[in-house]
Amino acid sequence: MRIIAVMSGKGGVGKSFVATGLAAALHRSTGKAAVLDADITGSSVPHLLSVPRGAHVDAEGNLVPGMSPDGIRVASMSLMLPADDKAIIWRGPLISSAITQLFNDTDWGDSEYLVVDMPPGTSDAALTVLQTLKPDGIVLVTTPQDMVTNVARRSQDMARQSEVGVFGLVMNMAYAVCPHCDERIEVFGPVDSSKEGDMPRLATLPLSPAWAELADAGRSGEVANEEFDAVAQTILAELKVAEAVS
Ligand SMILES: Nc1ncnc2c1ncn2[C@@H]1O[C@H](COP(=O)(O)OP(=O)(O)OP(=O)(O)O)[C@@H](O)[C@H]1O
Ligand SMILES: [Mg+2]
Repeated sequence: MRIIAVMSGKGGVGKSFVATGLAAALHRSTGKAAVLDADITGSSVPHLLSVPRGAHVDAEGNLVPGMSPDGIRVASMSLMLPADDKAIIWRGPLISSAITQLFNDTDWGDSEYLVVDMPPGTSDAALTVLQTLKPDGIVLVTTPQDMVTNVARRSQDMARQSEVGVFGLVMNMAYAVCPHCDERIEVFGPVDSSKEGDMPRLATLPLSPAWAELADAGRSGEVANEEFDAVAQTILAELKVAEAVS
């Protein structure tokens, strides 16, 4: 299984939004995408992809993942909780072992592309994903603000130290479009691409109230189809090249 980790330097920049949008695009293209929700304490993947709660173990003792209406397999601790408002309050080591177990013990079936929704920052849990799951590459999600303050570069550095490659970055919330005059408003200031270094820009996404509404309604797989399809194709092509040279 090829593993694509979606990471960012800080919270709330749209990791889960991008992870689910990318998984949906990979699924449209290959029919074999799955998502591992590695944000144990701040889970949002099941909600974004309308995965019904519930956890089952098969006869071999493997965890049966949840399933989105489109057929994307999702493994998430939050599917095991009795209600949405229940919190998981665990310390780092327990969270790290939960991520490893979710990954190892889930029956991923014929899934070939696993998108991992990471917790924010360069925490214990992020380190576990990089070192234990050894992703084939990372997608960094940033806002223009993060680039200015070098937050995104810290994630890139963490990936480099863990010897994991970076596919590129998704510049999220880059601008909003005025509904009256169609003017582009750079909500978080202009994008300074000189700060992006050697990271290719995979996509530039606006802050869109329509997308926010779809995501909130559990239809995150339907947002920015064109943009996410392009990101998925870039990643699939890179994976193919990596396979050819290995
Ligand atoms: N481009 C966008 N347009 C509109 N809404 C967006 C966009 N990107 C993200 N959102 C919304 O912003 C909120 C935060 O996004 P999301 O939960 O994906 O961030 P995150 O980085 O995963 O946060 P956390 O660090 O808490 O896991 C969500 O409600 C999401 O639907
Ligand atoms: Mg998230």
